[in-house]
Amino acid sequence: MSREMSNISAVVRDKLIVALDLPSVSAASAMVERLGDAVNFYKVGMELTYAGGLPLVSELAKAGKKVFLDLKLHDIPNTVARATEQVAELGATFLTIHAYPQTMKAATAAAKGSGLKLLAVTVMTSYDDSDLRDAGYAFGVKDLVARRAAQARDAGVDGLILSPEEAAAMRALLGHDMLLVTPGVRPAGADLADQKRVMTPARAIAQGANYLVVGRPVTQAHDPKAAAEAIVAEIAGQITRAAD
Ligand code: C5P
Repeated sequence: MSREMSNISAVVRDKLIVALDLPSVSAASAMVERLGDAVNFYKVGMELTYAGGLPLVSELAKAGKKVFLDLKLHDIPNTVARATEQVAELGATFLTIHAYPQTMKAATAAAKGSGLKLLAVTVMTSYDDSDLRDAGYAFGVKDLVARRAAQARDAGVDGLILSPEEAAAMRALLGHDMLLVTPGVRPAGADLADQKRVMTPARAIAQGANYLVVGRPVTQAHDPKAAAEAIVAEIAGQITRAAD
């Protein structure tokens, strides 16, 4: 394989982020071991973090893996800035923050110069217009997502985490400078579990997603490594088709 080809395939492989939504650090480590070279990027969320998973973040980073730490930070600016600096020290690649202007400004200033990239959560996908009204907002979901996405871009946030259904509109609104990271991805025929609005990996990439977060279709598969390889192949196929 030429050097150029191996570079291209590493970039494509990195587009699959496997969510380590597992109940213990030992279960997560066993899954990482099982997936081996098939997966280079992992998401560690609150469940695993609070189960003692933070040392695993550094371990994965030291082993050459990338880590998306999904902690959805939101606090006063000083606290957000200090927490962001700590996460950067762990060697994580992505960190989520809520898309509030103060939070975003504090986090971007703190992450500057580190390898850490920030992803903003605009409006949680469990919220609809009436939930926003109950929470005291004057905006509906669509308008609040667009407003916060523009604020994230203006604050220098690196990307957004959003549903694949929002990807094309956000790409059109924001251009190509921001990373779009989408959960809610299911290979054709996979069990939807509790996800209601899903897209296949190829379609999510075609809609403008840069990275896909996939959990159970890989971690609960009979053969997780084969499931991950199939998703990477589907992503690669879509990228090749788009380039033709
Ligand atoms: O197992 P599954 O592929 O559904 O996992 C998707 C991952 O993405 C989970 O870690 C879930 O918490 C996260 N996520 C999501 N929908 C959002 C935000 C995050 O599924 N709107």
